[in-house]
Amino acid sequence: MNVLESRIDTSGATYRENFAAMKALVEELERELRTAREGRSEKARQRNAELGKLPVQERLELLLDPDTPWLEIAPLAARGMYDGGVHGAGSRSGIGVVRGREVVVHANDPMIKGGTIYPLGVKKSLRVQAIAMENRLPMITLVDSGGAFLPLQSEIFPDIDDGGRIFYNQAQMSKLDIPQITAVMGLCTAGGAYIPAMSDHVVHVRGTGAIFLGGPPLVRPATGEDVSAEELGGADVHCRESGVSDYPADDDADAIRIVRDIVGTLPAARKADFPGRPPREPLYPAEQLYGIVPRSLQTAYDVRELLARLVDGSEFLEFKELYGPTLVCGWAYLHGFLVGILGNNGVLLSQSALKATQFIQLCDRQGIPLVFLQNITGYIIGREYERGGITKDGHKMVNAVATATVPKLTVIVGASFGAGNYGMCGRAYSPRFLWMWPNARIGVMGGEQAATVLISVKNEQLAREGQPPLPAEAVEMIRGPILAAADQEGGAYHSTANLWDDGILDPAKTRDVLGLALAATRNAPLDGRRQGHGTFRM
Ligand code: COA
Repeated sequence: MNVLESRIDTSGATYRENFAAMKALVEELERELRTAREGRSEKARQRNAELGKLPVQERLELLLDPDTPWLEIAPLAARGMYDGGVHGAGSRSGIGVVRGREVVVHANDPMIKGGTIYPLGVKKSLRVQAIAMENRLPMITLVDSGGAFLPLQSEIFPDIDDGGRIFYNQAQMSKLDIPQITAVMGLCTAGGAYIPAMSDHVVHVRGTGAIFLGGPPLVRPATGEDVSAEELGGADVHCRESGVSDYPADDDADAIRIVRDIVGTLPAARKADFPGRPPREPLYPAEQLYGIVPRSLQTAYDVRELLARLVDGSEFLEFKELYGPTLVCGWAYLHGFLVGILGNNGVLLSQSALKATQFIQLCDRQGIPLVFLQNITGYIIGREYERGGITKDGHKMVNAVATATVPKLTVIVGASFGAGNYGMCGRAYSPRFLWMWPNARIGVMGGEQAATVLISVKNEQLAREGQPPLPAEAVEMIRGPILAAADQEGGAYHSTANLWDDGILDPAKTRDVLGLALAATRNAPLDGRRQGHGTFRM
């Protein structure tokens, strides 16, 4: 493989200004992540302690093997939504190591509105289950939740991607042989009762854990019975009488010890045999990424400069370097895993789309995971390109991306607009994981372009009616709100709050996160794939 040689002048003013701008974004991200982890009211902390429960952070620390990596999923979900305090959509989730085994963990946070489930909490649960299913990872759930957040119940109940889907997925996971272990560390009420019930192993904490279809506040008016939560659905009821739970635990720490013991009994994962070699660091420091990424998405730069700081030994075997140069494709090792990388170097043209299609087919046939570095304003437009068939060439790329069966990982490092988002494996194309850099922006098109389209549509309407075009102030009344909405809704924080991604990444940590994610994807064997694509329009 060739060694990528950087052409960046790290002493120049542009580099320094870029560096300062990205550093500020990364510091803001760290503040946001700290708030999401630690921003709990004193009242909630006290109540948790009174009940003898451990905070979620401590539960996670006890559960995970010491000094092992933790890849957190969607820590800023629901940021700024509801009353602004539903951090992480009310839960902490991620991929961690328990007894040497990679697992998915999902833990309700009882210090956020009693661990109740908001609409984005449902979305996060479903996302975490998808990760467990796609990567065949055992799932550990630490339940401590007052159930549906009742004021928003209509938004989380009956639809295909609402609350019921969580239990549907649990049945599918059981059928797929994905072990599910649940620790009942607080309430599992109503639908929530099915989380333990549909698991393979249920650990139940005496005194604080309770499972019931209707809690005491519902039972009292319905049946006249005046029972405590412990009498209705505590550990003794379910471990001794009903058989809903399997292992009683004295307290949180005891429950977590039992969960760890259960993980120790699971059969070893049958891992996919990805090609690889011993990992090596890149030749250039990761922090230099801060100085390379321009402050404006309009400024072009060579994506190979990113690759030189992401891949092992900065080595890259470029595929069809001279053909379709607006998309860089090629092979590299990342933390020792061989990957096929696609990185944008400009707008997508027919040649770049065709090159991508061929490259994806090769990786898919050879069982090589794909990494997409997305910085794309879209496919080229205009009369010449339409005649040249840009739509049918784009279609081939989209088709290949959609149907590739190897793991796909996407990092949006800049722009993510229009069909470029699709061709470069946006969320709807089922990458196993997708992250945003803090400078990234996402949308159908930029605000300015959207405003221009709408104003021109309006003017054409007026022309048909024989009226003059919109006056300047009317144009501003259309443009202003569209620009404001695009500005707010196109940013990385809006994306991550809505779970359009799995998190915002510090660019300097991208290599390590990709390495962990590739290791996680190996838990799903590649054999038995039904390879092939749909019909390519020629
Ligand atoms: N929907 C909306 N808000 C709820 C809620 C629910 N289902 N359950 C609890 N909350 C809110 C409380 O109003 C309180 O809000 P506040 O902090 O603004 O005052 C907060 O969550 C904490 O509740 P609190 O009862 O003070 O804490 P706790 O630790 O003593 O008890 C629960 C937590 C979850 C055990 C208890 O609130 C409870 O039993 N909730 C109802 C459970 C239920 O029957 N759910 C059915 C839904 S399917």
